[in-house]
Amino acid sequence: MDIEQLSTPFYLMEEEKLERNLRLLDEVQRHSGAKILLALKGFAFSGAMEMVSEYLHGCCASGLHEARYAAQKVGKEVHTYAPAFKEEEIDEIIGLSHHLVFNSFAQWRRFRDRALGRVSCGLRINPEVSASPADLYNPCAPYSRLGIRREAFEPDQLEGIEGLHFHALCEQDADALEKVLEGVEAKFGAFLPRMKWVNFGGGHHITREGYDVEKLIRLIKSFREKYGVEVYLEPGEAVGWQTGVLVASVLDIVHNGIDIAILDTSAEAHMPDTIIMPYRAEVRGAGAAGEKAYTFRLAGNTCLAGDVMGDYSFDRPLRIGDRIVFEDQIHYTIVKNTTFNGIKLPDLAILRKNGSVEIVRRFGYEAFESRN
Ligand SMILES: Cc1ncc(COP(=O)(O)O)c(C=O)c1O
Repeated sequence: MDIEQLSTPFYLMEEEKLERNLRLLDEVQRHSGAKILLALKGFAFSGAMEMVSEYLHGCCASGLHEARYAAQKVGKEVHTYAPAFKEEEIDEIIGLSHHLVFNSFAQWRRFRDRALGRVSCGLRINPEVSASPADLYNPCAPYSRLGIRREAFEPDQLEGIEGLHFHALCEQDADALEKVLEGVEAKFGAFLPRMKWVNFGGGHHITREGYDVEKLIRLIKSFREKYGVEVYLEPGEAVGWQTGVLVASVLDIVHNGIDIAILDTSAEAHMPDTIIMPYRAEVRGAGAAGEKAYTFRLAGNTCLAGDVMGDYSFDRPLRIGDRIVFEDQIHYTIVKNTTFNGIKLPDLAILRKNGSVEIVRRFGYEAFESRN
């Protein structure tokens, strides 16, 4: 099948680009001795999971559904953490998981007897050090519910605990990790030698150009040697980073002081971080507003006035039927998609290494009907 034949909207993930990311992550594993897990919350694309399984040690899951998905699609290790676990789900989660991370001592006490001997148990700590770009993405911000602060840590309740977990980064380099590790050691260093493993969470932007991979490797190696622990990383974004696009079509062009192209996709429903974070997605062949001859506002096909991707300029005027290609739309998109306004979910397609294109999932009315 030809990419031109796919009907829009669709996400197209490129296997070759995914493999490039996975190879780099594997290099980190081999040189540092760390084990890397895919954070499914950021990147869960069925067509990619076989390849993920070839290179990584497994997945980290945010609860029962992701744990089931991890076991089914990737196999290998499943590490599950949630801000709180539910009574009626915990046994199934324990059965699926290799590591189980509790967010509080209350949860640990509640489920300890059911978990011990069946799964390796850990606690999420809050090192209270983070340089996250925004509070929305900062698990160490004041009043955070994520992780146990040193002040609330109960050293007499550690029997049976084999690991500590922290997650404090967001799209950051190894120097940010270094600072977080200093915080972890300053606050929790006394407990590290009695642990079997420490999970450094996600937010490591390892596959971004310019990331200091050598420094990451040095940090991991020295931490492992110093405390005699296994180190895990669980990136999501770094796995799916720059692996593919969201392709949409221009449905109509309206004018209200500016030219506005209405697309058959939605920033709100299909590219939510462009609104939440917010950030501006790159559009293939387009420049900033005013940079090229013809500027258009690109907007979504829902009722939300703010369902806007941004203002972009093109070498020629956009026409109805033109295709718009949003770059880097594979991570934190598919996993967050909604059918707001009943809008069609973008199909999921994959460009295989041999050049063939396959549709992995096609969505229609039933996707909307089954959830509403
Ligand atoms: C506990 C935990 N682990 C891993 C991740 C993955 O982070 P990223 O996709 O930024 O690497 C997140 C993201 O929120 C997280 O909360």
